Amino acid sequence: MVEKLSKNFFLYLSKNKILNKGAKKWGLRLGAAQVVAGVTIPSVIEVIKGLNEKGLVCTVDHLGEFVLRKEEAIDSTKKCIETLEAISASGVNSQLSIKLTQLGLDIDRTFCVNNVRQILDAARKTNNFVQIDMEDHSHYYQTLSILEELRKTYDNVGTVLQAYLYSGKKDLAGLRGVPLRLVKGAYKESAEVAFQQKDQIDKNYLEMIKQHLLTGSYTAIASHDHRIIEKVMKFCKQWNIPKTQFEFQMLYGFRTELQEKIAKEGYTMRVYVPFGHDWYGYFMRRLAERPQNVSFALKGLFSKK
Ligand code: FDA
Repeated sequence: MVEKLSKNFFLYLSKNKILNKGAKKWGLRLGAAQVVAGVTIPSVIEVIKGLNEKGLVCTVDHLGEFVLRKEEAIDSTKKCIETLEAISASGVNSQLSIKLTQLGLDIDRTFCVNNVRQILDAARKTNNFVQIDMEDHSHYYQTLSILEELRKTYDNVGTVLQAYLYSGKKDLAGLRGVPLRLVKGAYKESAEVAFQQKDQIDKNYLEMIKQHLLTGSYTAIASHDHRIIEKVMKFCKQWNIPKTQFEFQMLYGFRTELQEKIAKEGYTMRVYVPFGHDWYGYFMRRLAERPQNVSFALKGLFSKK
């Protein structure tokens, strides 16, 4: 009950526009520096270097979402391209993750697709891959249709499917062969479209992972849930699915010991590394997922980090 209340509270806060705007000015606060790798490209490249040295590969995310001004979306597009160039110039091992609402999806679909195309061209030039994060359900079908359009010209792009959605398995069946990240789902969705019970979400999640793996498709299992991870490892051994067909992913700053352990066992372990001024919505969703994180947020209130 308390857990549910605090989850709803942080999801509500994550959408608060005034706090979001304020947070961009404050710089990293409330302990956010523990899960956000700075605000500049050089700072995130340094963090990635350190993670690479530990045997972890990365995907970097220039934070931002729900953009409503064209100039902001153009700026974000440039930042993504500069990030890809910095990855290439520094030689670090990292892909890029993007959000379509950051690149203008709520302004104009064609404008957004053109921005993504510029990013994919830059990724192609530097031999890199771009994963389109999945946002809330109001953007879900637009994201899938844009992916379908982009995949006609680009093979260096994939997206994310969320297991809390009833339509997860059906949508997954239409994405055979597409490199996907599979997650449980981070937004507050209604019972009309999404499972509300944890056990139902976990069950659907595992079934979706097995479904995508069995079609021979590249699958990223993005979860901090050690039970799910163990089951996936066991399943892949049973079905002789090679380690080159899947990877595990976790967020920067979470379960770092487990991340390193998985990498040492010879699996690809990719860390999602967010950076930038627009950290507030991302950080609130992380607090919503795991109320225990609140303690470090409160500690962060009293530190200057
Ligand atoms: P969950 O929160 O369900 O926890 C299950 C169990 O795992 C817990 O009970 C606990 O035992 C253990 N556990 C979890 N976290 C722990 C911790 N920090 N320390 C110790 N134990 C812990 N969502 C989305 O909607 N769109 C997206 O594009 C993405 N992208 C994305 C990328 C990556 C790399 C990750 C890891 C996640 C996402 N997500 C996402 C978020 C995702 O949907 C989901 O909300 C979170 O990962 C939380 O669910 P988990 O599966 O991690 O475990």
